[in-house]
Amino acid sequence: AQTAALQELEAEFAAPQELLCNVVHGLHKSMDAGLMDMHSPRLAMLPSFIVGNATGSEQGRCLALDLGGTNFRVCEVVLKGRHGEYSVRQQKFPIPQSLKTAPAAQLNAFIADGIATFLRDHALQNEDDGNVLSSSPLDLQISPSLGIPVAADAPVVKQVISLGYTFSFPVYQRDLCHGELVQWNKGFNCPGAVGQDVVAQLQLALEARQIHVQVTALLNDTVGALVACSYRYPNTVLGAILGTGSNTAYMEKVARIPKLQTQIKVKRPDLQQRALEQDLEMVVNMEWGGFDNPCAIVPLNRYDQRLDEQSNNQGKQMFEKRISGLYLGELFRLVVVDYIKSHQLFGAYTTVPDNLTIPYALDTSVVSRLVDDDTPNLVHCAQVIKHTLGLNGLTPTDHTVLRRIAAIIAWRSARLAGAGLGAVVLRRRDRLEASSPENPLTIGIDGSLFEHFKTYRTTLLAAMTEIIGQEHMPSIRIALTKDGSGVGAAVAAIMSAEGSCL
Ligand code: BG6
Ligand code: GLC
Repeated sequence: AQTAALQELEAEFAAPQELLCNVVHGLHKSMDAGLMDMHSPRLAMLPSFIVGNATGSEQGRCLALDLGGTNFRVCEVVLKGRHGEYSVRQQKFPIPQSLKTAPAAQLNAFIADGIATFLRDHALQNEDDGNVLSSSPLDLQISPSLGIPVAADAPVVKQVISLGYTFSFPVYQRDLCHGELVQWNKGFNCPGAVGQDVVAQLQLALEARQIHVQVTALLNDTVGALVACSYRYPNTVLGAILGTGSNTAYMEKVARIPKLQTQIKVKRPDLQQRALEQDLEMVVNMEWGGFDNPCAIVPLNRYDQRLDEQSNNQGKQMFEKRISGLYLGELFRLVVVDYIKSHQLFGAYTTVPDNLTIPYALDTSVVSRLVDDDTPNLVHCAQVIKHTLGLNGLTPTDHTVLRRIAAIIAWRSARLAGAGLGAVVLRRRDRLEASSPENPLTIGIDGSLFEHFKTYRTTLLAAMTEIIGQEHMPSIRIALTKDGSGVGAAVAAIMSAEGSCL
């Protein structure tokens, strides 16, 4: 019975090469539709207003804010201007679960308080002369030219504190510093933000606390990963996040973004001429989590269906729900619960233990620890099963079965992500063909799934190779881009000051 059940599961989570080819084809079509239409139901394809690659010579210092899915971080980033060299001081603030669905003003208040804490705890040093820019947020003053009120008796300091804001949700931008939230996801649903300018909202919270900091760049985390990676490797064409959420940004020729022309014509006629330049490239945030929402390409199995039904964004982010870290642990839990209930496995259990009845009780690290266990007799698996899953008295065969379930779920995810990345590389075949082993086309990737899950990385790479072709792989480099959001935000802020943004 165990073998038959596993075979059935394998069929439900199958991702054969044919499916991967359909994903590539479907993504290419959806990319075109998204680049054409401002509000495409297929793929958002959001222009970032960052043009061209970083050169590695960007130099300067600024604050960066990184609102991901689990934490938010405040960083002070110093870019040294010598290919990829930088330093970061940062403070992490876990986002309380309750804030993820609280009114947006409360979330922004929490973020602004975090910035205040950071500014209080870390005096911002001027690299060159050791001049302290601020020792407390209340002392901090910036140039009145930024339009932020400065008290009459306030001491004037030398430098403006600019902030690069990495906001890891879809935002419809009309320039580098403003953007309206398209929708929440990854468990967030704060009323009062969708359709609003997320920068203006944060700026209000900062001003209410007299924290004189100005957002000078707003970017997605995938854009941050791409920009940070290109600071080190200028031939970077893709940035991807494979973590709590899943998404990719890439360099697209501005001439191939028809909706940008419309958008610029309406909102920024001053930029029209520049946007027509033939060789200009802009970073585009694909928002591929929303690819194939009708599930016409990747079949929806009964576990995907259950997961979607219990989510707060039903029918949305369907590609992400098959791939990203937030969901793999939950898919695993749903399958295990099903197997226990149907008595196909685990003779020791006739009812589901309480700890496994709670949605999202298991995170993806359970899946990765089971799959990556290469100890003889699966010693690590046994520990995870006992201590994290809370299942006692199972047989070694049961351990193997649990590991297999985890591997089946992870395998589909890694193959879909690999096919997606392959599709985007092929979209820039021109850049691929211009690359070489000495100057490889580079993909910057961040996120816990990619960083901590070895088997996942191998599977993803194999799927990508199937799509791109082995002969091209020597001309491709995949770079783990940790700190991408902080460094990317800082590079973007500095590129903007240097005129590399529309
Ligand atoms: C972090 C980035 O390193 O990776 C975030 O700073 C990003 O912006 C995150 O969202 C993704 O990884 P995870 O695994 O934390 O979701
Ligand atoms: C979600 C968000 C996207 C982000 C990704 C990774 O898919 O919509 O903007 O890049 O998560 O964090």
